[in-house]
Amino acid sequence: MTPNRPIVVVTRRLPEAVERRLACDYAARLNRSAGDESPDAAAILALAAEADAILCTTAERFDQALIERLPASVRIIATYSVGYDHIDLAAAAARGIIVTNTPDVLSEATADVAWLCLLGASRRATEGDRIIRDGRWGRWSAVAFLGTGLQGKTLGILGLGRIGRAVARRAIPFGLTVVYHNPKPVPDAAAIPAAYEASFDRLLARSHFLSLHAPANAATRKMVNAAALAKLPKGAIVVNTARGGLIDDDALIAALESGYIAAAGLDVFEGEPAINPGYLALANVFLLPHIGSATVETREAMGHRAVDNLDAFFAGQAPRDAVSR
Ligand code: DGY
Repeated sequence: MTPNRPIVVVTRRLPEAVERRLACDYAARLNRSAGDESPDAAAILALAAEADAILCTTAERFDQALIERLPASVRIIATYSVGYDHIDLAAAAARGIIVTNTPDVLSEATADVAWLCLLGASRRATEGDRIIRDGRWGRWSAVAFLGTGLQGKTLGILGLGRIGRAVARRAIPFGLTVVYHNPKPVPDAAAIPAAYEASFDRLLARSHFLSLHAPANAATRKMVNAAALAKLPKGAIVVNTARGGLIDDDALIAALESGYIAAAGLDVFEGEPAINPGYLALANVFLLPHIGSATVETREAMGHRAVDNLDAFFAGQAPRDAVSR
């Protein structure tokens, strides 16, 4: 180990080009576990001995208890994700640890998956796929597999950040009107094909399709609960590519079972990968395993963005993507 190269703990396997860069520029402690498992808190602490930095992913939880036990040598946690709800920012700040994320580079890929979820749910892709695989496909029918059309309807976006905007842009060629709800209207509203709705309840009442793009925090936790679902028009479709905690799963499952909500397209789940088993029995949910950013190009770009942040920090500059509460 070259003494002047900072030690970086990398909790998970990353794209090859990113690992090569890390191994070249840093004393990198790369995850070489056979199954690419997330290290638990004890393993992270063991790996972090004398380390200067940790490059983690959304799958490892850096709560107060873990952050308080990190060695004093750790000065930065660079997460390989745009979301940072898995890191206790207050605990990190109390230890003087900087936290960075990877915004921008995954917005388009995640918006694509939001649309995959919207279309998969609205056109009953789960049922269609199953019936073919099970050998139960009969003759073409004029009345089977009827989904929900998009033209002339309204897409409600909760959280018009970078990903929400990319989702809104894609809505226009589909003939949808877009409305969004944020705590405040976005400043560059004229550039975005979406109208502001100050009231979340009114957004719900207008949304034939509801797509979630808000961060997970105390204010957004279970925002989509039984009361919110009841305010959507009957037959609405719910899409979530943000964080599972935004949805009250039992309420959504009940609404899907009753048919009040026609379908849901979900890429993220509370407690994932151990998702609420109620979803598994339902044909009107289109399920994906948290793959919003999972393209070759995006995952490489996320890695480089995380390493750019480390480079800036160790060059004595402010990292571009430092996050705070
Ligand atoms: C993120 O970046 O927050 C995603 O959930 C993982 O790519």
